[in-house]
Amino acid sequence: MNIPLLNLKRQYKNIEKEVNSSVLECFENAQYIMGENVKQFEKEISEKIGCKYAITVANGTDALIIALKSLGIKEGDEVITTDYTFFATAEAIRFVGAKPVFCDVELDTCNIDPSQIEEKITDKTKAIICVHLFGNPCKMDKINEIAKNHNLFVIEDAAQAINSQYKGQNVGTLGDIACFSFFPTKNLGCYGDGGMITTNNDDLATIIKALKVHGSGENGMKAYSIINNVEMEKMEVSTGDNTVYNPLKYYNYLIGHNSRLDEIQAAILRIKLKHLDEYTENRRNISHKYIEALKDTSLVMPTETEGGKHVFHLFILQSDNREEIEEKLKEKNIATGTYYKVPMHLQKAFNDLGYKKGDFPNAEYLSERTFAIPLFPEMNDEEREYIINSLKEIV
Ligand SMILES: Cc1ncc(COP(=O)(O)O)c(C=O)c1O
Repeated sequence: MNIPLLNLKRQYKNIEKEVNSSVLECFENAQYIMGENVKQFEKEISEKIGCKYAITVANGTDALIIALKSLGIKEGDEVITTDYTFFATAEAIRFVGAKPVFCDVELDTCNIDPSQIEEKITDKTKAIICVHLFGNPCKMDKINEIAKNHNLFVIEDAAQAINSQYKGQNVGTLGDIACFSFFPTKNLGCYGDGGMITTNNDDLATIIKALKVHGSGENGMKAYSIINNVEMEKMEVSTGDNTVYNPLKYYNYLIGHNSRLDEIQAAILRIKLKHLDEYTENRRNISHKYIEALKDTSLVMPTETEGGKHVFHLFILQSDNREEIEEKLKEKNIATGTYYKVPMHLQKAFNDLGYKKGDFPNAEYLSERTFAIPLFPEMNDEEREYIINSLKEIV
């Protein structure tokens, strides 16, 4: 048996007919940019998440950058975030010119430790980016309370956590803005890059819609008037078929991006969205079976946040003997992955921030012990039992 971390080929086979016909339809319609599938997907996913606006962008990293920009975060500002995450979370803060201020994590949930946030707040702090790491929601009550007391924005990095909940409420609705990734390996992944920003705030939604398309057109003008607090001008009226030529595109009001979800990716995501609950339940069932079977071994099991619904983007174990276990699993053709070997404060790219080894003991501890074992919704019982038995034998 050969078990990969994720089996996207098997998933495609299950939805092959639907995907193929809907992709072919995109070619027939020839509306390649922000067509009907993008519009419908945004509507369907906003209903699923329960947010007022779901605005698609080109990838999860752009979602973070555009979210930060829409809040006016720029050079001179500070943003507090977790030290233990995928690089893009902190990279986006740097990209808009602000300073990432790292915070250590909880050893059990692997998420930002809310009890350490307050001491990092200065008069330059503008926002907190919390990451629902591996699909496990952060302790949002505490984070939102701190943010409220200090007048800070809360951005959820929900790239790994679509369909996760905290106290019965979906991630993506728990802060001011949330960012998602549809990278192929994500719980809702497309067949290329994709991302999304959600918010309930009308003004932020207008600014985000403008920023993703060069700050142009009607949204650009509205965003300009919101940001600068000025009256809207009268616009040239767009008439006729706008598919190929839209005159409003050539009026630019903000320095933005070209960051759009592709029409073909939206068509694929619409199909996969219909299966998301089933995919999530399968991930949770397999994870709970793993935990039940392995909880009495020397391996440390993942912890679900109290009041939260973990969607197990990754199934992360901890061990003192990580390398040895990974090596032995490899011999048995079971794939593993290490998420993440280098915490943010030790990434070379952040040398200029002046952090050193020892600054965030929990993140460092986790980075030396965590590893992921295969988990995907289409995993069968035989594969699961093979992994469990192999691990039991090894440890
Ligand atoms: C926590 C987190 N934030 C942001 C991103 C960036 O998303 P993308 O790869 O779509 O740019 C990822 C994706 O890998 C992620 O895991």
